[in-house]
Amino acid sequence: MLGVIGGSGLAQFEGLAHLRRKAVRTPYGETSAALSFGRIGSQEIVFLARHGDGHSIAPHQVNYRANVWALKEEGVREIVAVATVGGIRKEFGPGVLVVPDQIIDYTWGRPSTFFEGAGAPVTHIDFTEPYSSVLRARILDAARNCGEAIAARGVYAATQGPRLESAAEIDRLERDGADLVGMTGMPETALAREAGLQYAAIAVVVNHAAGRGDSALAVSLERIEAVLSESMLRVRRVLQELCRQ
Ligand code: HPA
Repeated sequence: MLGVIGGSGLAQFEGLAHLRRKAVRTPYGETSAALSFGRIGSQEIVFLARHGDGHSIAPHQVNYRANVWALKEEGVREIVAVATVGGIRKEFGPGVLVVPDQIIDYTWGRPSTFFEGAGAPVTHIDFTEPYSSVLRARILDAARNCGEAIAARGVYAATQGPRLESAAEIDRLERDGADLVGMTGMPETALAREAGLQYAAIAVVVNHAAGRGDSALAVSLERIEAVLSESMLRVRRVLQELCRQ
């Protein structure tokens, strides 16, 4: 079964024929919201709003462990995560969709592993390729099939938030090789690997990162809102196509 974790701008999944909602308790506490079970075509999917139904959970306060655990418990084997990002690389301006292939973690203080606590064996997952290449390829195919432009690669920098970055921080991320910056990619991506799930992301660029392009002096939150709704329509089209494959 396919799980979709929706971020800012995708707190519900219109187009999903809803069958039922279920609150799931996990050893790590509560998920961000109840899981929504539904269908796209013949494919059963589970949707989870990462920031809660009312968009009230900040990126550093999301219970990533509970979210990933609950999806796995409910039979999910593949997760497509949708996340808004700022674009660092010049070509990644507002409205661009990207399927990242690499990630750099700048977050701190977030519970970030299932392998800790009483009796848990120390376990080091391989994370050389942090995203599932199979699922990434399927997303790219789906986008091609429905005529949505999508960039096939990008290095995602996961920052702590909830504040946006300074211009100098963005310069540093760029020197590190990052193309995109967002606040929720970690530890979600690593936890999915620990749980043995196939995981890939669709990153939606909603602004030039701080100090770049029309964010040279400030990041305009109003402009983000405008880009967000239009871009999420396109993301939904890609997801619907993915479910038809
Ligand atoms: N930085 C971090 N996270 C983000 C941004 C940004 O510029 N835009 C959307 N999410």
